[in-house]
Amino acid sequence: MWSEGGASRVDRRDKLGLVGATLWMTGLSGSGKSTLAGMLEQRLINSGRPAYRLDGDNLRHGLCEGLGFGAEDRRENIRRVGEVARLIADAGLVAIASLISPYRADRERVRALHVDAGLPFAEVYIRAPLEVCEARDPKGLYKRARAGQIQGFTGIDDPYEPPELSDTFGSGPAKPGSVHTVVIRTDEQSPEICVGQLVSLVHELTGRD
Ligand code: ADX
Repeated sequence: MWSEGGASRVDRRDKLGLVGATLWMTGLSGSGKSTLAGMLEQRLINSGRPAYRLDGDNLRHGLCEGLGFGAEDRRENIRRVGEVARLIADAGLVAIASLISPYRADRERVRALHVDAGLPFAEVYIRAPLEVCEARDPKGLYKRARAGQIQGFTGIDDPYEPPELSDTFGSGPAKPGSVHTVVIRTDEQSPEICVGQLVSLVHELTGRD
């Protein structure tokens, strides 16, 4: 049985001034997700907005420990983090998830979870061409994948399915639970410009400055 009772989301909004949302960043390894997530989290906290980052790489040390990179494990990875993001958003924080989340169906499930819960949600495609990500190769993983030392690496021998409904940044106000997908081009813009766009998106989603 589901247990009712306790404080509600409306209480958290009215008594604590908290309005949560989830920003789900998806994109290739090396596209800039973690960097932007970290910068965004800092910007929001500095402006007095509670936010919390859910980084794919980091969560694989705990919550998602033991999961690999086959389709089923990635799906479970995204499911778990999606559930945590929903809780964080419900608690009144801005959940900033940064996971490759390469499969459309997995991301759609996370979106549906938020829509069903009436929580603001945006899928953010952190976009840079594979060649650019590969040239950046911050962890040297593309090199290892090309050398055959890592199998099933996203973009090399495992697919990345880009968001389909992508609008460019600033496609209008989002209502809780509405479909909202934006693209952030990290190959064409500085990190500062990208983060500015993400901050605006958070304001759009939550209706707050
Ligand atoms: S996801 O596909 O399940 O969403 P997640 O974001 O948690 O992936 O983890 C991706 C990180 O794991 C990459 O940034 C990279 O450091 C590392 N990694 C190790 N093996 C792989 C692989 N086969 N494919 C993609 N990333 C991998």
